[in-house]
Amino acid sequence: MRRHHRNGSGAGHGAGWPAWRAFCPRPPDLRVLLHLELQEQRLDQEPVLRHCQELAADPHPGYRLAHWAAPEPLVNSFGQVMGHVLDAPGADLQMAPRAWNTAAVRAWEANIATSGARLMVCAAVHLSSGKAVAATVATVPPSGGPVADQHDTAVVPEHRRQGLARWIKAAQVLRIHERFPGVRATTSTVNQENLQMKAVNRAVGYHLMHERLLVEAPVASF
Ligand SMILES: CC(C)(COP(=O)(O)OP(=O)(O)OC[C@H]1O[C@@H](n2cnc3c(N)ncnc32)[C@H](O)[C@@H]1OP(=O)(O)O)[C@@H](O)C(=O)NCCC(=O)NCCS
Repeated sequence: MRRHHRNGSGAGHGAGWPAWRAFCPRPPDLRVLLHLELQEQRLDQEPVLRHCQELAADPHPGYRLAHWAAPEPLVNSFGQVMGHVLDAPGADLQMAPRAWNTAAVRAWEANIATSGARLMVCAAVHLSSGKAVAATVATVPPSGGPVADQHDTAVVPEHRRQGLARWIKAAQVLRIHERFPGVRATTSTVNQENLQMKAVNRAVGYHLMHERLLVEAPVASF
């Protein structure tokens, strides 16, 4: 979710304004489009890791965990999961719809590899269909730390509310911790209105660091 998650308050001059009005007096026509939370999950704190171990060990009958470099049989269903990132509130303000076919997934992977970052994907695979139905994506910087970026997480609608997002995010962070000991924290940007994602992040040990607003105003207001 590093790509600045998600909100679509459309709520006019609503929540979040007072915290920063001291820095930027409100022009009359300013409209808050997104209210974002930058969250952090400390991996150098034992209770966070212990709790993630408990969550990751919690069985989810009918599903298995998978970590990759995307294996060929799961590329298509992984792409379909990624398409559901646009279900997030306000996602349309932050990203254009895109086709997540096999070629697009491979191009996306190659682009990250070119940057030198390490792509980490954890997915839940639905055993009876053999499809990836939930996935979470993070990147570890080329230096191996100290902060990993948590990007998108999505679960296809029919498989939501079964704890799959918590499961994959807990397993993901344990794997990052194991493979990249230099990573001391992960950060994620979440739309304040995305209650589901905030609940998942809270469960795996994220806490609020900063808030950010995306605002829109006619040029004449400034
Ligand atoms: C956010 C998302 C990944 C959660 O997946 P999930 O597998 O359903 O999540 P979990 O089952 O692990 O946990 C969901 C928790 O959110 C909370 N929750 C769910 N709906 C809620 C709501 N309407 N209001 C408040 N809390 C809610 C609950 O605490 C729930 O846990 P519970 O089932 O124990 O009650 C999924 O809803 C999704 O794909 N949304 C669209 C994409 C998106 O928003 N991604 C995040 C930004 S990239």
